[in-house]
Amino acid sequence: MDTPLDIQAWRAIYRNMSEPFLLEEKLPTRDPFVLFDLWFRDVATHRELSFEELNAVCLSTVGRDSRPSSRMVLMKAYSTKGVSFYTNYDSRKGVQLSENPNASMLFYWPKVHRQIRIEGEVEKLPMEAAVAYWNSRPLASRIGSKASKQSTTIPDRQFLEDRKAELEKLAAEQGEEAISKPESWGGFILIPRYFEFWQGQSDRLHDRIVFEKDSDVWTLKRISP
Ligand SMILES: Cc1cc2nc3c(=O)[nH]c(=O)nc-3n(C[C@H](O)[C@H](O)[C@H](O)COP(=O)(O)O)c2cc1C
Repeated sequence: MDTPLDIQAWRAIYRNMSEPFLLEEKLPTRDPFVLFDLWFRDVATHRELSFEELNAVCLSTVGRDSRPSSRMVLMKAYSTKGVSFYTNYDSRKGVQLSENPNASMLFYWPKVHRQIRIEGEVEKLPMEAAVAYWNSRPLASRIGSKASKQSTTIPDRQFLEDRKAELEKLAAEQGEEAISKPESWGGFILIPRYFEFWQGQSDRLHDRIVFEKDSDVWTLKRISP
């Protein structure tokens, strides 16, 4: 902490990028879900643009106390309804979302200098979807999720290791099916009413195209960077 990092020098990598402009007349679609799909496919299918966990998204929630909190989750699916992820309903985010369904998601894909903001309300996904997804996960992930009462205070790391060992023993004795989905583990879908597509530009005149939903109709506008 004694020698401050030169953050400007670290950012130098971005300086010579030539980003495409995001122009209204050249948008391939006026449907924000389709545009999201196009941008996601773009980073997902071009190896040189891809990086691990490009479906990682920052999720912000605000509970009854009006204090926002953010954390990363993994987007598991998206459709013309919304964007879904899985978590523990008893976790901090789960409790906040039960108190206030409003949430915001932020994707950031640095190699293409793009971010997407999505805001809306969440709904719980059907339990059958959670069971199907739970059963598709590798055993180690299921054990890890089941070993953790997410967001609760624990005495030490050993507490988790002991719980993991118990569950591994259970799976060895009774088969993988014994590692069943915890009651509190499930999915949410964020149903958007606001999208912002942000295309960064080296000169800081970034493009920001916003879609807002008003009585089922999406309107488009450009906002200043
Ligand atoms: C890249 C990344 C992906 C993550 N994906 C998830 C996820 O899909 N679901 C989840 O519950 N936590 C996920 N986490 C852990 C969360 O960031 C967080 O630590 C946890 O959900 C507890 O948050 P909370 O106490 O605010 O509820 C992920 C963390 C990272 C860094």
